[in-house]
Amino acid sequence: MRATFNQLTIKDIRKETADTVSIAFDVPANLADAYKYVPGQYLTLKAMINGEDVRRSYSICSGINDNELRVAVKEVENGKFSSYANNSLKAGDQMEVMTPEGGFTITPNSVNANNYVFYAAGSGVTPVLSMIKSILETESNSNVFLYYGNKTAADTIFKSTFDGLDSKYSNFNLRYILSREDSGDANRNGRIDNDKCAHFFDAELRDLKIEGVYTCGPESMIECVKDFYISKGLLHKVHFELFTTPVAAADEANVSIGEDVIVNSNVTVIIDDEEYSFTLKSDGPDVLSAAQDADADVPFSCKGGVCCTCKAKVLEGKVKMKLNYALEEDEVAEGFVLTCQSHPITEKVVISYDEY
Ligand code: FES
Repeated sequence: MRATFNQLTIKDIRKETADTVSIAFDVPANLADAYKYVPGQYLTLKAMINGEDVRRSYSICSGINDNELRVAVKEVENGKFSSYANNSLKAGDQMEVMTPEGGFTITPNSVNANNYVFYAAGSGVTPVLSMIKSILETESNSNVFLYYGNKTAADTIFKSTFDGLDSKYSNFNLRYILSREDSGDANRNGRIDNDKCAHFFDAELRDLKIEGVYTCGPESMIECVKDFYISKGLLHKVHFELFTTPVAAADEANVSIGEDVIVNSNVTVIIDDEEYSFTLKSDGPDVLSAAQDADADVPFSCKGGVCCTCKAKVLEGKVKMKLNYALEEDEVAEGFVLTCQSHPITEKVVISYDEY
């Protein structure tokens, strides 16, 4: 089913830290199935802010047994949406909310007896909270390790929730790591880097069969965790979610489409059984932008190759993607593309948003 926007009412807004709120939505009974989610998925929120259509994706922080749909939004400097969410939104407001998406997920099962390892920093903890809470409530025979980096204890989003889980579940191993405050343990001061990974791996993980390593936060931490587990021969166990396009990749995306022949392509975009046709040069705008210019109401959020909201299937011809941080290899093999990153490289291209 293609993700769609629906108007939901904000049920509750809770201050989590000085610069983070969590927002819970009322889901009417007729939309309950559409908003069922898997721990780790996210919602794309849409608002008109000063006359501009602003969309951002935020991970769901509620667990699957919470009977709640809640996301956390950390205010970032000059962040249009995050400032609006932290300072202007209130319970009772209506908001356009897309149905849940995302492949950085875990599906808990009570028969599992697994060892899960999580690394999170800052607001990257949001999907991790949903995953960990859901595992602990469902899999009593599994062990969960969380290495959670923040500047200070006061900055630590969901600290009281994690502390509560730590008191309740003996199979939860919670390690806070603080970069601008003394944690009281030298091994837990600083950032999550190679040395920290090595220390905790040797002290706590080396004898365990690890089912999966899940990491979400700044690109530098994700790279560090990946490199560490590559060195242990466990890269295939690592799953990660980026919040933004990596800086180096964004620079790369600014260069031309590359070695392919530049064509002036006849592109047809299909959405909700309607067709929109236009010509588009390989080195011109991306397919998503061109489709918007042709008045097609196409779905998007990050426009950076990260979120997957703009996914569509190429039915005829070929396109080239500049970046792809969202689609799996098998999806690409089936012909799915991120239209915000796609440029035509054949004279005729047909792309459908109606195929899932
Ligand atoms: S809009 Fe996010 S990947 Fe295209």
